[in-house]
Amino acid sequence: MPSLFDLTGKLALVTGATHGLGLAMAEGLGMAGARLVITGHSSQQKLDDAVAHLRNKGFDASGYLFNVTDEAAVADGVGQIESECAPIDILVNNAGIIRRVPLLEMELKDWQQVIDTNLTGVFTMSRPVVRKMIERGGGKVINICSMMSELGRDSVSAYAAAKGGLKMLTRNMATEWARHNIQVNGIGPGYFATSQTAPIRVDGHPFNEFILSRTPAGRWGNPEDLQGTAIFLASDASNFVTGQIVYVDGGILATIGKPSNE
Ligand SMILES: NC(=O)c1ccc[n+]([C@@H]2O[C@H](COP(=O)([O-])OP(=O)(O)OC[C@H]3O[C@@H](n4cnc5c(N)ncnc54)[C@H](OP(=O)(O)O)[C@@H]3O)[C@@H](O)[C@H]2O)c1
Repeated sequence: MPSLFDLTGKLALVTGATHGLGLAMAEGLGMAGARLVITGHSSQQKLDDAVAHLRNKGFDASGYLFNVTDEAAVADGVGQIESECAPIDILVNNAGIIRRVPLLEMELKDWQQVIDTNLTGVFTMSRPVVRKMIERGGGKVINICSMMSELGRDSVSAYAAAKGGLKMLTRNMATEWARHNIQVNGIGPGYFATSQTAPIRVDGHPFNEFILSRTPAGRWGNPEDLQGTAIFLASDASNFVTGQIVYVDGGILATIGKPSNE
């Protein structure tokens, strides 16, 4: 019997996969058989290193450098990928940034950069890809949300506004495109050990202690913890699942927590 999770013959495009969660999810999709295209933004060298890393692991991988907030560059990039590699079957909108600044101190340009990258970037990336998917009869879109799609926290208002918006964009994309056999779902990572969280993930840092005590699983997530969910949402196993956000958070959203003396 063929595996419901087999991605052989599919092309998966993962944005912002030069390192961190995107690179780990690309590896997961590659392990399930997908051909990989990853994108980066700031450095050709970083992108080349990530592609080399994937090829060294035996995956068929290519890389493209463009800014997800630049609609013309995205259209060019998607066109190039489709003509040089293959039609895109799976799109993982992973590129994202965070700025930890209290709202009253945040400058408008920083607010806009966070909203543009995390939310508007999904709008600009998805439309050219999905137009082609519709012509071909279907596809999968996975939007990388966050626990901040559900929760507030000091200093991350722009990020939470963007990721909360992305949750609703995911549901609306799912609604508009389900009739075209396109499933759109989100993954909401909890706290993961990546460069984005490196500044707060150090012994003795109060936030590190808070996360370890606040997470029922008692640890930070490893990027590899996202691979199973990414494979599920990219594969035929999820063909009637759309508009859902799967939180991969070690249980944080399931609990109110407990006082430290209990
Ligand atoms: N880390 C966590 O604990 C955590 C938790 C919840 C959600 N998330 C979300 O998961 C995703 C990945 O997080 P991460 O921690 O792996 O981040 P990361 O290590 O900082 O990587 C971010 C990626 O996005 C790319 N990128 C940034 N701005 C871009 C733009 N304008 N256009 C194109 N690419 C751009 C970066 O490319 P360059 O390297 O070329 O700049 C990089 O590849 C993000 O959406 C993040 O919000 C992360």
